[in-house]
Amino acid sequence: MSKTILITGASTGIGAECAVYLAQGNTIFIHYNQSKAPAETVAALVEEKGGTAHVIQADLSTQQGCEKLYTEVAAITDHLDVLVNNAGGLVARHEVKTLSWELMEQIYTLNTYSTIYMTHLCIPLLEKGTDPNIINMTSVAARNGAPTATLYGSSKGALDSFTRGAAKELAPTIRVNAIAPGVILTPFHEKFSTPEKIEVFRNASPLKRNGVSEHIATAVQFLIENDFMTGETIDINGGVFMR
Ligand SMILES: NC(=O)c1ccc[n+]([C@@H]2O[C@H](COP(=O)([O-])OP(=O)(O)OC[C@H]3O[C@@H](n4cnc5c(N)ncnc54)[C@H](OP(=O)(O)O)[C@@H]3O)[C@@H](O)[C@H]2O)c1
Repeated sequence: MSKTILITGASTGIGAECAVYLAQGNTIFIHYNQSKAPAETVAALVEEKGGTAHVIQADLSTQQGCEKLYTEVAAITDHLDVLVNNAGGLVARHEVKTLSWELMEQIYTLNTYSTIYMTHLCIPLLEKGTDPNIINMTSVAARNGAPTATLYGSSKGALDSFTRGAAKELAPTIRVNAIAPGVILTPFHEKFSTPEKIEVFRNASPLKRNGVSEHIATAVQFLIENDFMTGETIDINGGVFMR
């Protein structure tokens, strides 16, 4: 059955891969903030694979941006089956000794507030969907401690807790799960990790490799399809963190 799916941050990296991976026969809302041309390329790929694409811009680190995205989605569809809260980022590497209030706000609004508020806004659309479910993108940085990404890790750790609370509150209608990726080679690391750091990450992994976006997209599809899963975070990190 055809699904209507909103993926935030679908212009590049993991979100873009998810959009194309899930495209066939589905309607995909491709959200972006600054990367308009890449978002349009993703839309073309979605259509090529037999999906229907809608491209919407919004800065999700603001309340107004989240409301803009929701309003524009709701003007096109009367329901959502899946919300993938994927938009996010490190913002800047820092140490606890050197953080500022402004950096704390930037990291938390982008990663934590946007996911929580988009979830809140989309509930009425999801309630009209079929087996509606939400997938939040957290991070191995929330699990293991990640020096120079401590604020980022904690902003994702809050989402781990939010996922479980929302899963209980929104059951039995809406399922809520999360994925905690390890190092996945996307523009994220082009911005925030040197090639040397990428090599350090690779060597620290028991599998001796970093991941690619498809490792996450397959898990998103699994969470969409498995209607007995809620409140869970799936770790996909090459064994860097084991429970
Ligand atoms: N790559 C990794 O190793 C890794 C590991 C753990 C978790 N993650 C998480 O996975 C998610 C996707 O990351 P990625 O690796 O695919 O990175 P990416 O390629 O940099 O993608 C980030 C996405 O977030 C969007 N975004 C950034 N700032 C935004 C803002 N203010 N408002 C709205 N959207 C914004 C970007 O949109 P524009 O480019 O259009 O501005 C882009 O589509 C993020 O939540 C990240 O924290 C990544």
